[in-house]
Amino acid sequence: DQPNQHFVVDTHPGIVPAEQRTALLANPGFGKVFTDHMAIVRYSQDRGWHDARITARAPIPLDPASAVLHYAQEIFEGLKAYRAEDGGAVLFRPGENASRFRLSAERMAMPAVPEEMFVEACRLVTTTDRAWIPDSPDGSLYLRPFMFANEVFLGVKPSSEYLFLVIASPVGAYFKGGASAVSIWVSDEYVRAAPGGTGAAKYGGNYAASLKAQAEATENGCDQVVFLDAVERRWIDELGGMNVFFVFEDGSLLTPPLGGSILPGITRDSLITLARDAGRTVREEPYAIDQWAADAASGRLREAFACGTAAVITPIGTVKRRDGAFKIADGEAGPVATSLRQQLVDIQRAKAPDPHGWVQ
Ligand code: COI
Repeated sequence: DQPNQHFVVDTHPGIVPAEQRTALLANPGFGKVFTDHMAIVRYSQDRGWHDARITARAPIPLDPASAVLHYAQEIFEGLKAYRAEDGGAVLFRPGENASRFRLSAERMAMPAVPEEMFVEACRLVTTTDRAWIPDSPDGSLYLRPFMFANEVFLGVKPSSEYLFLVIASPVGAYFKGGASAVSIWVSDEYVRAAPGGTGAAKYGGNYAASLKAQAEATENGCDQVVFLDAVERRWIDELGGMNVFFVFEDGSLLTPPLGGSILPGITRDSLITLARDAGRTVREEPYAIDQWAADAASGRLREAFACGTAAVITPIGTVKRRDGAFKIADGEAGPVATSLRQQLVDIQRAKAPDPHGWVQ
């Protein structure tokens, strides 16, 4: 049956007065401030997707037996809307988020959200709350589409009812230090994802599973954790919520391959394309943690950086492990990370030509 993709737009005078909104936008941090509206669509096995609306952002009543609270059937996405120089709003590759959301849903035995409905929800939340898009050079409106199981039932099976929502949060830089280099803790004890597991899905449980290792990183004075593969504990997978790239002395780049335990990042994909457009070699190949240390020591490795929608490109300055630490070059942001970041951000903000048609 055809889903009803027509959203009822139930706008109302903003909940947050304009002066207060301006104050909140001055220094929003990451994920702490939210806009006035949200998109919400219901799913039931009998009716499919229905009752699509843009409405006032508000708590959602949940039955204590709602399936998500027990068996964690939940997936999400992250994408950003930017204020363009002409005053309009732009979204970066929303169709890619929609298609990854469909793959995540499939992995978690959830119904597909039609890609047009996903993009329309993002578009309508952005236009309805366009006054919330920050003006600052680092600012954007972070959209968080998500879906969860809400059948009232304690049996372990795919839920027969779901909610799909899009909320929005004006954000600045993800890390406190902005775009300056971060320190990374190597998780030897905990893994994030195993072959055949859920690592390639943007599934809330993957992030829950990263928290203990992230806490260990923090205890050891690091900003982020990097996970090794679950089988050999040797190959670099990804960070707690970002992909990772390495830059070598010959100007080539390397990033771990998508083998099912890594999230297929849209920023990752965009950077591979931009680097290749610029004539650089980009290899998607396994890279061992010991090789990382050896290449940093010999100087063959010039830069390493984390990338993701939230983090954009964040240089990695130092890497710490139980038995020691190493620095990458001088421990500061390198020229390749800095220039790729600028190129990407200029396209995302519609300030530069967009040869791949990424911006809407
Ligand atoms: C994103 O980059 O959008 C994510 O979902 C990851 C999280 C660290 C915020």
